[in-house]
Amino acid sequence: MITLPGLIDPHVHLREPGGTHKEDFDTGTAAALAGGFTAVLAMPNTRPPLTDGGTLSAAKFAAGQKARCDYGIYLGAGNENITIAPGLAGRVCGMKMYLDQTYGPLRLDGLYDLMRHFQTWPKASPIAVHAEGRSLAAALLLAALHDRALHVCHVSRKEEILLIRAAKERGFKVTCEVAPHHLFLTDEDLPHLGLGRAEVRPRLATVADRQALWENLAVIDCFATDHAPHTSAEKDSADPPPGFPGLETALGLWMVAVSEGRLTMDDIVERMHTNPKRIFRSPEQPETEIEIDEQATWVVRAADFHTRCDWTPFEGMLLRGRLRRVRLRGETAFDDGHVLARPGTGRDMYANYPTQT
Ligand code: DOR
Ligand code: ZN
Ligand code: ZN
Repeated sequence: MITLPGLIDPHVHLREPGGTHKEDFDTGTAAALAGGFTAVLAMPNTRPPLTDGGTLSAAKFAAGQKARCDYGIYLGAGNENITIAPGLAGRVCGMKMYLDQTYGPLRLDGLYDLMRHFQTWPKASPIAVHAEGRSLAAALLLAALHDRALHVCHVSRKEEILLIRAAKERGFKVTCEVAPHHLFLTDEDLPHLGLGRAEVRPRLATVADRQALWENLAVIDCFATDHAPHTSAEKDSADPPPGFPGLETALGLWMVAVSEGRLTMDDIVERMHTNPKRIFRSPEQPETEIEIDEQATWVVRAADFHTRCDWTPFEGMLLRGRLRRVRLRGETAFDDGHVLARPGTGRDMYANYPTQT
């Protein structure tokens, strides 16, 4: 048995409000605990998106009632909220910008509004971007011009990780994350997954892209899940939404890589605890740890999971490392397959956060 600090996932979609048939703060944070996460940062591309004080307060109220682990919520960057956004920075874990087409209506169009958000968002609060290809180059330039921190979500392609590497070598304040599906799956998996089920943004990339990510592990700061639950009926429909669930398979996948000698446990702790905690300034969680049976293996079955999402792209895979227990702020939150933490016991880590530098 090994003991690790509570894992922190800086990128989850908990679908509340507007998509609670896929997930809500209750089921999503239960899935987080069952995956070894004691804190999650929730994305604002809900319906409606979280772009102002009212929508943010409503999401925070739901989370306060239902969350079982600690959490933060991002503010979404829109074309309409540039002047009001800085006033909300003290209530969120950061600002999230969608620069490319993905799921839901939240999207930041045009270069001018992007420039203005970079100008006005407080430097002490991170900006996280969904930025693929050339959008990434634009976001990196703005971060450099403003000498401010930028966190790049779910890097998936070779040119992107090489660009981030070059930016880091130049001293840019850039950090990045990868999601397990981009390190364990490629476009060669499309036929067996099925085209609708394989839909995800960024798309599953090539074997060469995946190889470049593995070769540049040193450039990768965080392992995020990008837990993006959609029901199997939606994924199998004529208009399948992009996204994979990930909270309950991430640790087991990364531990397969440990057993194959491609990662160390220290790499995991750094990228799933130390670095996300530093980048998103998340508060200390005292008396918080997870216990894992390092050698145990298990077979992925979506039916066993706590998420409301009823399928997984990793169905049937043999994973490693069984989570036995989670302690969160002194309480046993998960024990041998059972989530014990009650809805409403999770804390808002950014209820009143200082944003002055
Ligand atoms: O595949 C994705 N799904 N990529 C995103 O950026 C959004 C996410 C979602 O919310 O479903
Ligand atoms: Zn994204
Ligand atoms: Zn996402």
